[in-house]
Formats: sequence, C-alpha cells, structure tokens
Amino acid sequence: MKGRDHSEMTHSLEVMISARRIRDRVKVLTQELNRDFQGRDVVVVALLKGTVVFLADLIRGIEFPMRLDFMGVSSYGSKTQSGKLIVTQDLRMDVRDRHVLLVDDILDTGRTLHAVQRRLRRLQPASLRTCVLLDKPERREKQVPVEYVGFRIPNRFVVGYGLDWDEHYRNLPHIGVVKTAA
Ligand code: XMP
Repeated sequence: MKGRDHSEMTHSLEVMISARRIRDRVKVLTQELNRDFQGRDVVVVALLKGTVVFLADLIRGIEFPMRLDFMGVSSYGSKTQSGKLIVTQDLRMDVRDRHVLLVDDILDTGRTLHAVQRRLRRLQPASLRTCVLLDKPERREKQVPVEYVGFRIPNRFVVGYGLDWDEHYRNLPHIGVVKTAA
C-alpha cells in the first residue's frame, strides 16, 4: 500500500500482524480474562484513543460483570524528559475497592503505563491488572507489571487496529509497519 502523509513524505505499509492472527490472539486473551476475573465485578479502564478497536473486540468476549471507563493521556507526556503524564480526560467512575483491568494499545518505554498505574493505585482499587495489545520491550525505561500481552514486537513504529500515524490508519484491520522514503 502506498500513501502520502500531510508532509508529502512517500511511505508504504507492510503487514506485521494479520487481522486473522489478531483475532485468534484476542480470543485467547479474552479466555484468560474470563478465567482470572470469574465472579468479579470489574471496571475496565481503557486509555484513549489507540485502544478503541482492540477494546471493542476484547470486551465482546468478556463473560464477567464489567463496566467501562476511559482515561485520556497525552502522548506529549511520554516524549518529555520529565515523563510527566498529561491527563486530558480523567476517570468518571469511582474505582475504590473495585477490581480494575487497565487496557492500553502498546507498551513502549513504559512511562505512560508507569504513570497511569501509579495514579490508579492512589485511588485504592481492590486490584489492578493491565492488558496491552503490543509490547515493544527494546525501548523500556520503566518496568511496569503487565499481566496480559497480545504480541511482543520489535522496535518498529506500527499502525492499524486503533494505532495511528498522525491520526491516520487507525481503521486498518491489521497491524502494519510504516516505511518512509526520504
Ligand atoms: P510509552 O513509551 O509511554 O508509550 O510506553 C506508550 C504510548 O506511545 C505511543 N506509541 C505508539 N503509537 N505506534 C503508535 O501508533 C507505535 O509504534 C507506538 N509506540 C508507542 C502509544 O500512544 C502508546 O500508548
């Protein structure tokens, strides 16, 4: 697939993880969640916006009682040296004494999830577990506990299945790698 971004840089996309592989893996993840959260009342907290496609597939297989809430965190936070999290949308639900399942699209340096987990722990949930679709371990700076991982991938910039490049390509049914030509 060929395309041009806003800066007219020519680029192509290669499939890294097919839609079929994603579907199969998400099904297994949902089965693990059903086993581990059986009988619990859970608040699923998803980070906007990259999780939306993954989240929609994941929660449709969930069989335990759950409610859904969102947090918006700015990616600028993870790019600054301070690593400070910029919260653009806070939780609406009270998660105190609730079992929380945090869902994110991709774990990279770990700064985002480290800060979000710290923030959630301060709200005193009964338990906190984290599920990510993708894990890029090569660039990790902060060690964060993550109980459920869809795929471990190499250090490449990926798009699709909710992930974007300058807000494009979230709609792709697969995970693709952007290749730019100077
Ligand atoms: P950190 O470094 O805090 O980053 O673990 C997590 C956030 O960075 C974004 N991110 C990506 N977004 N393709 C994307 O579309 C990528 O390859 C990628 N790597 C990191 C993403 O917002 C994630 O939540």
